[in-house]
Amino acid sequence: MRGLQTLSTVLLAVAAQGKYIVPGGRWRDTEGNLVNAHAGGVTFDEKSGKFWWFGEHKIEGQEEGGGVSVYSSEDLATWEAHGLALEPIEGHEYISPENVIQRPKVVYSEEADQWHMWWHADNSTYGWLLQGLATSDNPAGPYTFVDATAPLGNWSQDFGLFTDYKDGRSYALYSNGDSVEGRDIYLSRFNDNVTALEDVVHRFPKFDLEAPTIIQTEKSYWALMSHKTGYRPNNVVAFRADSLDGPWSQPWIVAPLNTRTFNSQSGFSLRIKGTKKTTYLYMGDQWDSNSLWESRYIWLPMEIDERKKTLELAWHDVYDLNVKTGEWKPVKGKTYTTGKAKTNGEAYKQEANFATDGVILTGIYGNDSTVTFEGIEGTGKPQWVSFYYQNIDDMGFGDQPQGSPDRIGGPWQLRRISSVVVNGKTENVETLYQRDSHKGIILSTPLQLTLEKGRRNTITVGGLYNGVDYKGADLDRIVVYPSEK
Ligand code: GLA
Repeated sequence: MRGLQTLSTVLLAVAAQGKYIVPGGRWRDTEGNLVNAHAGGVTFDEKSGKFWWFGEHKIEGQEEGGGVSVYSSEDLATWEAHGLALEPIEGHEYISPENVIQRPKVVYSEEADQWHMWWHADNSTYGWLLQGLATSDNPAGPYTFVDATAPLGNWSQDFGLFTDYKDGRSYALYSNGDSVEGRDIYLSRFNDNVTALEDVVHRFPKFDLEAPTIIQTEKSYWALMSHKTGYRPNNVVAFRADSLDGPWSQPWIVAPLNTRTFNSQSGFSLRIKGTKKTTYLYMGDQWDSNSLWESRYIWLPMEIDERKKTLELAWHDVYDLNVKTGEWKPVKGKTYTTGKAKTNGEAYKQEANFATDGVILTGIYGNDSTVTFEGIEGTGKPQWVSFYYQNIDDMGFGDQPQGSPDRIGGPWQLRRISSVVVNGKTENVETLYQRDSHKGIILSTPLQLTLEKGRRNTITVGGLYNGVDYKGADLDRIVVYPSEK
């Protein structure tokens, strides 16, 4: 028996995937299009052996009206598009292109032998605060609208769905709006066939949080939620409990302070029980309010310590997840610091005690004041390269009035944009988005680049127009990762 188990584990290890997970990268589906499934959820289907990812489909230049898209994957890294699972219907009371169809989640209802999609259903001003239900006989859809209702008579804004792996029961999580009477998060149990809510299990009172999700470990339940700063990220918090009905702990912040949860908002989480390990994935959204459809995804394994009762997120530029064994490991890259960089024009190295070399590359502007990293080793095939930067625009940008960070409606620019050119080939300019950080907070954004084989590549970084100015963010270092297998 033992021998057999070992053999099957070995076979699974050999079948390990070649694609990496790269938080904040431009994720492309198998046809090369950007994965467009925001604020959604991932459901595993035993029958097809696939993960199904549902999310808000954002149309360029529009906030609403795109419906719900669906993708499938066997490894959580390679995604095949299946179009829209829920298509808006012109003139429909609840799912017209003018309606809000947000935060969709899908669960399989065993009783009904059907797939049930739930979401935040609303009018365009968030005046209804309802939960929508649509059903389908197969995960990919199309889903048929059933109803939009007020959960147990309450309001429901940001919607989350959680299924307890121990007893199979599903629960809805919802913030009940921004009014003084609201500002709670509710956790309510669905009936057996997941067609209506039955009972409020817990209320997280008056924390004024949103984007809720629950992850279940062997011993605990962990609820993650964000503060309310619209499409700007903030410090996501978590609560812990032994049982869903509480008592729940005090909240704490899950990622390093001032990174705004690595520039992401919570929304979903996934338990991956493999043959060797159980991994808990945080699946956050990195909204881009300048261009919602291009918003990225920040997926990171959660570090959970049952004894200390802690849950934390640590950053990894690139990691390799094996959904069969449940194991994951960070991919090692080669780092090039400021010593490998030459400055051109007005760009210069400035003392910065928080930087890797004690200096940071600054003054990067337009295509004259640039920085060139030299002697970079490449494989000749696409590789992820992470650019570690600081962007201190959180207190206003250029000649804009000062605004304060973490405040809705502030005057800041969400990001600077840098140009990235490999080996001086200015006909191929890559755009690198560098979201604002705080002063002295270094974050990274990945880009997939093709370098030449060998050690003589150069990477030049300049500044591109972001709607206000041509400034690139300050650079600390770059890390070049091996090509995917
Ligand atoms: C927050 C919510 C999202 C969406 C935006 C709109 O980020 O979590 O679901 O409603 O606000 O501003």
